[in-house]
Amino acid sequence: MGSFEFVREHSPYKNREALLDDYTPDTLVGRDSELEEYHGALQPAIYGEQPDNIFLYGKAGVGKTAATRFLLDKLENNADDYDDLDIFTELVNCDGLNSSYRVASHLVNTLRDPANRISETGYSRSQVYELMWDELDTHGGIILLVLDEIDHLKDDSILYQLSRARENGNLTEARIGLIGISNDLTFRDGLSPKVRSSLCERSISFSTYDANELRAVLDQRREVAFKDDVLTEDVIPLCAAFGAQESGDARKALDLLLKAGDLAREENAERVSEEHVRRGRDLLEREQVARGIADLNDHERLVVYALATLEAEGETPARSREIYSRYKALSVTAQREALTARWLREHLDDLAMLGILSVSEINEGSAGGKYREYALQQDLAVVLDALEETLEAMGVHTSVKGYV
Ligand SMILES: Nc1ncnc2c1ncn2[C@@H]1O[C@H](COP(=O)(O)OP(=O)(O)O)[C@@H](O)[C@H]1O
Ligand SMILES: [Mg+2]
Repeated sequence: MGSFEFVREHSPYKNREALLDDYTPDTLVGRDSELEEYHGALQPAIYGEQPDNIFLYGKAGVGKTAATRFLLDKLENNADDYDDLDIFTELVNCDGLNSSYRVASHLVNTLRDPANRISETGYSRSQVYELMWDELDTHGGIILLVLDEIDHLKDDSILYQLSRARENGNLTEARIGLIGISNDLTFRDGLSPKVRSSLCERSISFSTYDANELRAVLDQRREVAFKDDVLTEDVIPLCAAFGAQESGDARKALDLLLKAGDLAREENAERVSEEHVRRGRDLLEREQVARGIADLNDHERLVVYALATLEAEGETPARSREIYSRYKALSVTAQREALTARWLREHLDDLAMLGILSVSEINEGSAGGKYREYALQQDLAVVLDALEETLEAMGVHTSVKGYV
């Protein structure tokens, strides 16, 4: 038995925090054309003019938030050189504040001093807007509001209000520039035409990173985060390759580098190796599946459970009708009314998108036609682990008894 002392031994890190999510790098690599366009769109602000509203879009992890923080920090710093200029910036993540009401009350509270904050409930929406206009006008100057992950907003009223505030006569002193950021490429098309034309006066698209670009991002971060020579040669290329597979997501690549570093440190290894990256990747995938399953509703979990029992019996890959009959049987045990076979077919593809199960298309040529087969994408044990609550609620199917 160890003595559980805490002792500093081999740590590969110089500054581990540089790999965490909220770290903003000093410069961004490989985003020159995006930054140039973005910089140009913000340029009027330095003259004290209201910039066009801007809409940024691109897949997750391509540097939209990082670019925004980077440019707005610069803008605020540069604005200090001009006495007649007052620029205020605020970044709101709509993932946490997903209604117009909440965004508006958040803005009121950001601009008020702590003693005067309003509560999150108890006003009508129009009252909150009135308070918001008052605060914005009292503050005055140029106000740049970033609504990040804007696709989480359940209604677009605040977008309409803010993007047209001056035209609508709600503001006289302050000039607002609105910056909306979305991972969801279809978000813009779903907006009402009025909101779309005012929010998207400028649209800037962030392209996806390839493996080489991700290597550059990781190389830059390695310098800050790790001590010299603690990564074996293949660590960065491997993390970059995995990131490129994950639709060019720099965050995923950085997370993997962090996981590999942590594993090496836990083992007191002198260097971080390819092996740490591979195991790190495995662990991250498991965590992702567990989170994915945790977010499913009861019926979707029953579907995953149905496939898990088939897998335990060696009956996968399975066709949707086989999965459906197992799902129906499990629904009876769970005392739930089974949904339709059609619902199931549609949801199997969603579950595949989440990386929970895999699909293969079988083509039997002219005689048999085409059909799809499904299997678990992840280890049965990992999936059953994530389904723990479902199993508790409805008992364990005989097929998986040996696994839990
Ligand atoms: N060009 C880049 N140079 C350096 N770091 C980057 C670059 N692009 C992304 N990153 C880093 O990758 C992570 C994800 O980027 P982020 O801006 O949050 O993506 P998005 O907002 O597009 O989802 C962040 O840690 C960010 O600092
Ligand atoms: Mg972001």
